[in-house]
Amino acid sequence: MFVTFEGIDGSGKTTLLQALAKQRQGTKICLTREPGDSMLGKRLRAIVLDAKTQLDARAELFLFLADRAQHVAELVRPALARGEIVFCDRYTDSTLAYQGAARGLDQETLLALNRLASHGLEPDLTFLLDLPVAMAQERMRQRKLEQEGRFDGYDASFHEAVRQGFLDLAKRFASRFSVLDASLPLKDLVSAADTVLSARLGIDD
Ligand code: TYD
Repeated sequence: MFVTFEGIDGSGKTTLLQALAKQRQGTKICLTREPGDSMLGKRLRAIVLDAKTQLDARAELFLFLADRAQHVAELVRPALARGEIVFCDRYTDSTLAYQGAARGLDQETLLALNRLASHGLEPDLTFLLDLPVAMAQERMRQRKLEQEGRFDGYDASFHEAVRQGFLDLAKRFASRFSVLDASLPLKDLVSAADTVLSARLGIDD
């Protein structure tokens, strides 16, 4: 089963993904992320997240797509073929929300490019961690992360557009999306996500 985690910067995806995996010790879970977890991805990540890199929106798009193509081929497909559950921190919906809704590139073109780059591999389940932008930015300030990358440096309206983009995707692809209230305490968030995951895995607990 292929599970992706999406949300604006500071929404707590990574924390949830790790806590959820910990709760399911004993199940073979492959934890991975985009951009970044292939050999090529690590190098691309350094470019796309470098605050000093001035990137054209289309150049940036193709770097994320190149990362995705390699990541799916090198890591995700083999893990799924071994029967593992894959938890992936960001995937195709991030491209639609950041490069589409926020940067203004055409959504239908991005859907086609995503299909190409992902080798047609769609998530079985996507958790969207939804949170008001002001709360996410406050969390990032507390973690002193606001200066970390180019995307963290954008103004609130950019992140508002990303948030709205994700919510629109959740409506359009409602059958695979599960929208979670990311302002909940972690314990409650993990429990909510675990219930959804169990149902999708066909396990009643
Ligand atoms: P990262 O440091 O991994 O942030 P986070 O922990 O919030 O995921 O940075 C990833 C950044 O790249 C994030 O701001 C979103 C952006 N991104 C895109 O714009 N398009 C994409 O297709 C992907 C995968 C990520």
